[in-house]
This record gives sequence, C-alpha cells and structure tokens, in this order.
Amino acid sequence: MKICRTVAECRAAIGEFRKAGETVGMVPTMGFLHAGHMSLVALAKSRADRTVVSIFVNPTQFGDSADLDAYPRDETRDLEMLRAAGVDLVFMPDVDTMYPPGDETIVETTRLANIMHGQVRPGHFRGVTTVVCRLFNIVQPDTAFFGEKDYQQLQVIKRMVADLHMPVKIIGGTTVREPDGLAMSSRNVRLSAPDRAAALVLSRALNKAETIMTQHPTQRALREAIVSVIASEPRAALKGLDIAAAESLTEIDGPLTGPAAIMLSVAFGDILLIDQRVVTP
Ligand code: PAF
Repeated sequence: MKICRTVAECRAAIGEFRKAGETVGMVPTMGFLHAGHMSLVALAKSRADRTVVSIFVNPTQFGDSADLDAYPRDETRDLEMLRAAGVDLVFMPDVDTMYPPGDETIVETTRLANIMHGQVRPGHFRGVTTVVCRLFNIVQPDTAFFGEKDYQQLQVIKRMVADLHMPVKIIGGTTVREPDGLAMSSRNVRLSAPDRAAALVLSRALNKAETIMTQHPTQRALREAIVSVIASEPRAALKGLDIAAAESLTEIDGPLTGPAAIMLSVAFGDILLIDQRVVTP
C-alpha cells in the first residue's frame, strides 16, 4: 500500500494506475476509521480496479477549533486497517498542502449547504465541498463513495459534481450500525456510558417514523411523533429535525406522498450525533 503525503507523489502514483488502464475508486475520510468507512472501502474495491483512501481532518468544516482539536486521530491504526483491507493508495496531506498559503477559493452549493444541518453548523458544507473538490482535482477518481448516514452531505456532493461537470460518479453506501442500532461514528467513542445508552433514542425515533409512515401521516404529524420520542430521553437535546423530499431536500408541507428523508441531529452534552432514514409512504 502506497502512502502519499504530497500532491506530486499522489499524482505520480495515480498516473501509474492510469497508464495500466485501471479505474480508480476513492473514499474520502477524516480518519479514525470504523466499520462504516471500511464498508465504503469494500464497496470501492468491488467497483474499481484501484482503491484510494484520503485521510485529512479538514479544518474548514469545523465550526470551532475546540471541536477540531477534539476530533479523534489514530494514523497507525487507520493505516493497519487500510492495509488489511487491500487498499492501494492512501493520500494523507497536511493542512498547507490542501490549503496552500494565500489560498482563497471556496466551493459552495448555495441552497443545499445552508438549509437543515447547514443551519445547525454554519459553513460546514462549504468546508466539505471545498475540500472534496480539491481532493477530486488531485486524485481524479472515476467513482467516489460517501456514507448515506451523512445524507445531506451526500446530496450536497452530488449537486456539486453535477453543477461543476466533474467526471466522477458519486455512490452512497448504506449506514453501518453497532449491534444495538447506533449508527457508527467517530464521535461515538467520546460519549459517556449513560449518553451512549441514551443515544439509542435516534434509531428509536427513526423506527417510530417508519411505522407511522404506513398510516400516510402529514409532515407535521410525523414531526410531532419524532419530537416526542426524542423528548422522552432526558439526556438528549434535539438540535435539528428535517423532513424533506428525498433528493432535492425541498421541505414537504402537508401529507407525505413520496419518499422522504428524515434527518436528525441530537446532542448529548457537547457531542452532536446525526442519523437519517429515507421512508416511503
Ligand atoms: O464525511 C467525511 O468524513 C468528511 O466530511 C469528508 C467527506 C471526508 C470531507 O472532509
């Protein structure tokens, strides 16, 4: 497995794959890998000749520096996991490589980035699209893989790729869960034991929403049912609940007649967890 830290090294290695006529699948990550990332790696391996993983904790998508500093990192373990999974190349740039001194270019999906989760974390999706655009320009993959758990992120990236005519196909991977239903996240390790137990309220709320959908509820009735499940858990603070049309993420008013994405952000102390589900009536 080749480890590249500079753009020149990465381009040279990818150039070798291209010379051999091989396709490249990419999994962008911020490291501290878990089963969710590894399922994307497995998907990439099944869809492309060569698999490239990037590890870069992107400062521009964090609201405050405390959250950035607290972000868990374990380079040695990450590399062991990727080697064992048969990844061909890992791109691990530093901040100055991704954001060269004097840098001033941003990429933003102006509507999608600033609704829903984007209102809870202003500037977050602009940071994501800016870094993913730069990573795509360096690696130039044929396909790139993102988890469906970050549902709005997936839609934001699909929009950016379509709008900027980027020659990369975006593929979503289904959410991997702990045995008890909690969506895998690098943040889970920071939860205290009582918060870890309380965090199951996210999947309980989504299960309830799925059951209610069979009764063709209005958007408001569905929202009230989800809010009441979250409110039943005193350790949980609901930070965001969006119910929107599954692809355009436009708000739905009145009865739910087509596929709807439910996106939840719930805080346990200073740790924000997200989960989502697409439900059909
Ligand atoms: O989903 C993530 O881990 C990050 O938002 C991404 C896509 C790697 C961009 O930094």
